[in-house]
Amino acid sequence: MNITAIKAWAEAKMLQADESPLEPGYRWYHGVRTAKLAGLLAEQMQLDVDKDILELGGLLHDVGKAGYRGPDPHGIRGARLIRAEIAHLFPPDKLERVASIVANHYQRPNSKYWRGKEAPEFPAEVLLVQDADILDHLGANAIWLAFRYGAKELRNQEAAIQRFYQVDPPWHQESLASLNYAASRQELEHRLKFLEHFYIQWKREERGELTFHQN
Ligand SMILES: [Fe+2]
Ligand SMILES: [Fe+2]
Repeated sequence: MNITAIKAWAEAKMLQADESPLEPGYRWYHGVRTAKLAGLLAEQMQLDVDKDILELGGLLHDVGKAGYRGPDPHGIRGARLIRAEIAHLFPPDKLERVASIVANHYQRPNSKYWRGKEAPEFPAEVLLVQDADILDHLGANAIWLAFRYGAKELRNQEAAIQRFYQVDPPWHQESLASLNYAASRQELEHRLKFLEHFYIQWKREERGELTFHQN
């Protein structure tokens, strides 16, 4: 497997892509973080996974979304791009495993879409990327995302704070419920706690309060 060439292809597809209102190259940075998080979760749980497959799957999972705003589901689109453009860089079995991570990264067995139905069964490498993908959208990263979208939608500070309390909670709950591993839930709970703290402080500041010595 030509990992260097695969990564170079991924970088060329994602690093310069316009993702406004997010920063250019957002899918690349998100892919790098997702790959790293997935690897660390696997390590922490001592799961027996192919590290290269996991890393490439994490890195490429949103390649179908890079600079693309059309109607096609981005996982399917990403897997199709990989098969069409870089199949020659993989042995056939590894190509299928990476393409499956990309195609299935949002088919979370514990999500509301599958709850109560017979969910598909996936290998650990798919489940890990699913979890890492969620984790990378919450915590301090969620503040960055909220600021980027808030600027685009011309929200003032009060509206941005309101959004966190009125719009975001179902998303957070669904994210927690959708995770595949207890270790991911621990990390997400930690990130959500930080987010909550940030918004408590921000809400006070936005109201012009003194925040020191207050309970
Ligand atoms: Fe995605
Ligand atoms: Fe993603």
